[in-house]
Amino acid sequence: MSNEQAFERLQSHLQAHQQAHLIHFWPGLSPEEREKLCNQIGKLDLDRIDRWVKDYVIHDQSAKIPDHFGPAMAYAAQPDTPDMTEKYVRATALGEDLLRQGRVGAFVVAGGQGTRLGFEGPKGNFPISPIKQKTLFQLFAETILATSLKYGTRCPWYIMTSPLNHEPTRDTLEANHYFGLPEEDVFIFQQGTLPNFALDGQILLSNKHTLATSPDGHGGSLKALFEGGAVAHMQARGVEYISYWQVDNPLINIFDPLFIGLHALDGSQMSSKSLVKTGPMEKVGNFCLVDNKVTVIEYSDLPDEAALRRHPDGSLVFELGSIGIHLVNRTFVEQLNAGEFSLPFHRAVKKIPHITPEGKYVEPDEPNGIKLETFVFDALPLASHSMILKTIRSEEFGPVKNATGVDSAETSRQMIIDRAGAWLESIGTAVPRKDNGQIDCVLEIAPSFALTPEDLCKKADRIPEIKPGDSVYLSD
Ligand code: UD1
Repeated sequence: MSNEQAFERLQSHLQAHQQAHLIHFWPGLSPEEREKLCNQIGKLDLDRIDRWVKDYVIHDQSAKIPDHFGPAMAYAAQPDTPDMTEKYVRATALGEDLLRQGRVGAFVVAGGQGTRLGFEGPKGNFPISPIKQKTLFQLFAETILATSLKYGTRCPWYIMTSPLNHEPTRDTLEANHYFGLPEEDVFIFQQGTLPNFALDGQILLSNKHTLATSPDGHGGSLKALFEGGAVAHMQARGVEYISYWQVDNPLINIFDPLFIGLHALDGSQMSSKSLVKTGPMEKVGNFCLVDNKVTVIEYSDLPDEAALRRHPDGSLVFELGSIGIHLVNRTFVEQLNAGEFSLPFHRAVKKIPHITPEGKYVEPDEPNGIKLETFVFDALPLASHSMILKTIRSEEFGPVKNATGVDSAETSRQMIIDRAGAWLESIGTAVPRKDNGQIDCVLEIAPSFALTPEDLCKKADRIPEIKPGDSVYLSD
């Protein structure tokens, strides 16, 4: 086929889908630019895009609230009956066994933009530890290494990036020699992208030969794990359970034997950790039951009436908040990818920089387009069984999301210090506190020193006396 014929074919294909503007600048493009544009367009499934435009861009079918939904049930953070105590002991032992056998892989989703934090570069590079200023990535790597040593195994680490941060993420890990992990235990892969749309459904161009795209949301991880080769890597390594968390949470307990054990004992395909919300409007997803299936309804979608509803004892009916912590069976990811699976889209109206038909680059002041994303928790209702475990906020959820205020570096760092103080006190070490109860020193416990208060207990003789105003870093 001649170049001219190929162009005419492309043109009529695009015209049939009202997207012919994508080749508006064709005459002025170099051969390389034309090829790049053709490649991008070639990857689009325009029949499906027509449907997305109709259902999600022009109309808004996304995030439909189901007619009937109720609160989901969860295991308590601490067992509250003798039967439960026995089950938690059994689950913890099973979780530890699975860790020893190397059946659990760590998986962090780190493809987001981190706009709210205002930090240049991958969010995982954000320095967060209170004394050593270790980055999020370093803390995760050290935790994975310490766990591998503790259980006499090698836990692999899977990291999902996006085109926004793939290279800098890989470069950071390479330059830091994977923070002590064997290189072959760290598997970095990219998530997919979706085109950005103008409000009328036309795909936007970010320059004359490039479509405007953005990452497809953390729901894209379920495809990317498979298509990017992580699942095959897990198969080869005997990994059956995927411990999923978000890059913004330095308090994450990546390998929690109790959570792993309960998940396995219950035959769950995808499980979640949750915490009791601080109030009805806390900005976390809500665990609900829809048609008997665990389902997360985002804070922005839960009607106020439901969010505010309380039991007679004053507790919230919808009290279980989602904190982006899951356990997913590898076989569940395989099963999803074996068929035609798709998660529902969530639609966000955004300011999207683009090229005008006159060829001018604009960064709009007002929202001008639509970005579509999928969310990983929308896979929960697809699981044959889904378990939820309540957890304790001060032990494992202190995200860094905002530059200041709630969920900022300051609050997250303080939570790292507070948790270290609580662990030390739990083994009988005196920690200086002010009259108002606040810890009066700076504390940091390296993962190599202790992953739990029990680990700390074994090293009690190495803990110095702590005086007000001290900075104490405990490491091996
Ligand atoms: C998220 C959850 C919310 C939960 C809260 C807990 C969503 C929609 N909401 O909110 O229910 O209560 O965390 O902290 O997720 N990411 C990717 N690729 C993407 C988009 C995001 O890897 O395309 C990653 C980010 O890097 C981050 C995580 O997903 O690790 C969460 O994304 P973010 O957009 O920050 O979610 P939140 O709005 O904070």
